[in-house]
Amino acid sequence: MQKKWKVVTSVMLTSSLMMSSLFVNTAAVNGQEEGNPPQLTGEASIDEVVDAMTLQEKAALLVGGNKEVLEEIDNEIIGDQATRVPGAAGQTQAIPRLGVPSIVLADGPMGVRIDPTREDDDDTYYATKFPAPNVLASTWDTDLVYEVGEATSHELKEYGVDLLLAPGMNIQSYLLNGRNYEYFSEDPYVTGKMASEFVNGVEDQGVGTTIKHFAAYNQRADNNIDSIVSQRALREIYLKGFEMTVKNSDPWAIMDSYNKINGTWATENEDLLTSVLRDDWGFNGFAMTDWEFGSRDIAKQMEAGTNLLMPGSEHQSEAIVDAVNDGLLNEEILDRNVKEMLGIIVQTPTFLGLEPSNDPDLETNAEIARKAAADGMVLLQNEADTLPLDSNLNVSLFGTPQVETMTGGRGSALVHSAYHLGIPEGLQNAGFTLNEELYDKYETYVEEMRDTDEYRETGGGFFNSTFPTLPEMDVADEAVTAAENSDVGIIVLSSEFGSYGSDRSLEDFYLSESKEEMITDVSEAFREEGKPVIAILNVEGPLEVASWRDQVDSVLLSWQPGQELGNAVADVVTGKVNPSGKLPQTFPVVYEDAPYSETYPGTDQFIYEEDIYVGYRYNTTFDVEPAYEFGYGLSYTTFDYDNVRVNRNGNFKDKITVFATVENTGDVAGREAVQVYVNAPDGKLEKPEIELKAFDKTKELRPGKKENLKFELDAQNLASFDEELSAWVLEEGTYEVRVGASSQDIRDTTTFTVDEDIILEEVNDVLEPQIEFDRLSKLNY
Ligand code: BGC
Repeated sequence: MQKKWKVVTSVMLTSSLMMSSLFVNTAAVNGQEEGNPPQLTGEASIDEVVDAMTLQEKAALLVGGNKEVLEEIDNEIIGDQATRVPGAAGQTQAIPRLGVPSIVLADGPMGVRIDPTREDDDDTYYATKFPAPNVLASTWDTDLVYEVGEATSHELKEYGVDLLLAPGMNIQSYLLNGRNYEYFSEDPYVTGKMASEFVNGVEDQGVGTTIKHFAAYNQRADNNIDSIVSQRALREIYLKGFEMTVKNSDPWAIMDSYNKINGTWATENEDLLTSVLRDDWGFNGFAMTDWEFGSRDIAKQMEAGTNLLMPGSEHQSEAIVDAVNDGLLNEEILDRNVKEMLGIIVQTPTFLGLEPSNDPDLETNAEIARKAAADGMVLLQNEADTLPLDSNLNVSLFGTPQVETMTGGRGSALVHSAYHLGIPEGLQNAGFTLNEELYDKYETYVEEMRDTDEYRETGGGFFNSTFPTLPEMDVADEAVTAAENSDVGIIVLSSEFGSYGSDRSLEDFYLSESKEEMITDVSEAFREEGKPVIAILNVEGPLEVASWRDQVDSVLLSWQPGQELGNAVADVVTGKVNPSGKLPQTFPVVYEDAPYSETYPGTDQFIYEEDIYVGYRYNTTFDVEPAYEFGYGLSYTTFDYDNVRVNRNGNFKDKITVFATVENTGDVAGREAVQVYVNAPDGKLEKPEIELKAFDKTKELRPGKKENLKFELDAQNLASFDEELSAWVLEEGTYEVRVGASSQDIRDTTTFTVDEDIILEEVNDVLEPQIEFDRLSKLNY
C-alpha cells in the first residue's frame, strides 16, 4: 500500500496540542512554577512528566476531552464528539504545558467512522466499509483478516485517527443479540485468532486498536444487565478470546462493557480489569469506559483499572479531583492510570507528529473489501450444481432488499463509504442481463411504500435509524412471466432493518408471511419452466431456513459484507470466486432449539445457565440437530482428507502436532477451511463433545492438487478451567482429534494420550457469581 506520510515539525504538533484542552492554564492559575516543565518526549520521560503534573492535569488526562460538544449534544449524538476529526467518536485532552497531545479515537468494527463532509470544505472524507467481523470470520483466513486490519489502519492514519474503537469481540452466544454482527463468532478460539490478526494488522502500521466490549456483554436488550456467569464459562468462553488477543497481539487499549458481571459493573471491576487483565494476562495498554456518560462511581472506576472515562465531561474531571481531595481516592492510583495512558500516547501518530493526508487510497481498499466480502460468503445449498451461473444469462431478481441494499453497520459500526454497490448493479457489472421491468416495479413499490406513514423511517438519529421492514410485493403474476422470459430467478432475502439500540426480534429470524409467499410463487413458477431458483441471504445473522430451503435450488449467504456487496455476490455467483466461506455461528432449525430460548434476555440480571455449552458445544453435546452447523460451507469443488495423524506416537508432552493432507478432488480450483476439533475425556471436569482447537485454510488448490497441513496443539489451548483450583488443567486420558470440513462433517480422526493431570497455570480466584444457580451439565440433562 502506498504510504503518504510525512513527518512535520513541532509547529504542527503544538497547534494540535492547543485544541480541546480544558486545562491549558491550570498550572498558571494555580500559581505553580512555569519555568521549564519536563516535556513528554517518549517512554523514558513519562515518570518525570507525571511527577510534574498537577492533580487537575491528571484528572484532565483521565477524562475524554469533549466538554464543549457535550454541552450541546444532550446525549443525542453519542459517539460523535471529537473536535479534531469531525465525526470521530472522541478524543483525549491535551496538556500542552507538558507536551502531552490530544489523541483521536474513532469507531469501528466495519471501518473508520468519521463524517464524510465538513463545514465550509468541498473535500470528502469517505472511508471504506469493509465486511463486518462475522463475515471476516467466515473466511477462516487469518492472513486476509490481517490485510483488512492493515487497510483500515492506512485510512485511520490518513485521516488523523490514533486509536480505532474495534475490533468488537464478544461471543455470539445469543442469537438475538442486536450487536452480534460486530463480533466474529460463537467460538472463542475463532474469535481470539481473528481479533489477534486484525489487531496486528492495524497496529503493525502504527495505529492503535481497542478490543471491546470487556466483558460478558452479550445482549443489547438491556445495556445495564447483570451478567451472571460461572468462572469456568468466563475463562473458557467469554474471556478466552480477549486473553488470546492480549497475549498474542498486545492491543493498545480495551473498552469496558456497559453491563455488570456477577454483580459488579465491568468498569468498576477490579477483579476483571486488574486481577485478570493485567495480573493474569499481562495487558500493557489502557482501559477506557464505553460511552457511558459518567453514570458510575469514579473512584471505583479509577481503582479498578479504568484509565479513561469516555466520552468525558468536565464534571468527571472535577469529580476525580474532589475524590482525591476528600480522601476517597489515592492520588497514586491516578499516577498509575496516567502512566499507562502516556505509555500508549507516546506511540501514537499524533505524538510522533505524523500529518494526515486526508487522502487515503480508497481504490486499493475497495479491492480488499471486495475480496474479503466474496471470501466470507457461505454457500449453504447447491442442488444439482446450480451455481455457478454463466454470466450471459437473463436474471429476474425478486425481493425488496435488491432495492434497499443492506451492506451492514449501524450506530457506532456505521461507515460513511463513498458508495454501496447493490446486487443488481453487481450482477450487471458481471455481464448478466437483468429483468428491468421487474426491477422497475420493485423500485416503484419500495418508493411508494416508504412514502406511507406505516413504513416511513422512524426514529432517526444515531440509535434508531429504523426502517420498518416492508412486506414483500405480491409477485404471483410477475413470477410466471419472469419464469417464461428469463433463465434464472434470484430471491434476495433480508432480515428486519435492525435498530442500533435494541436486540433483534424473532421476526428477524423467521421469515414473514409475505416473504414465504414470494418464495413459493417464484419457486413454483420457475420449477414449472424447469428453471432454477437461487436465494441470497443478505442478513446480519442466522435466519430460519429449514422450512423453505427445499423450494429453492441454491442458497448463498452473502451476509451484509460492506460496500462491495453486489460485486462480491457476482464474483461468487459466476464462479470467478469459488466459495470457501464457512459458518462461524450455528444456524438453528427453530429458536426454541436454543437452550436459553425461554430465559433470554432476562430482567435486571441474566443467568448464563447453558454455561460452557455455547453454540455448537451445545448442539454436539446434547444432540440438537441444527439447520446448518458451525463450520459448514460448500464449494464448487470437493476435497478429500487423508493422512490425519499426530506425532510423538500420540504421547502428549507440552504440545502435539496434528497432520492432515487435503486434496482437491473436483473440477475447479478452490480453497478449503480445515478444522481441528478435540473430544477431550471427562475427568473431574466434564467436557463438551467437541471444541475447535485449530484451523487453517489451504492455498488455492488446482484440481488434483494436495496440500499438507500441520496444526500445533499446545497444553494451554487444550486445557479446561478448574474452578476449585482456580487453574487451567489438562486432564489425563485419551483425546480424540477430529479433523473435518465442519463441526459435523468429520473426515478423519486420530488420538493422543495425556498420562497424568497437568496443572498448567494457577490464576487469580476472582469473578465468582454472587448467587448459586443451576448450570447445564451432562449430568442434569
Ligand atoms: C458503543 C461503542 C462505541 C462507542 C463510541 C458506544 O455506544 O457501545 O462500541 O465504540 O459508542 O461510538
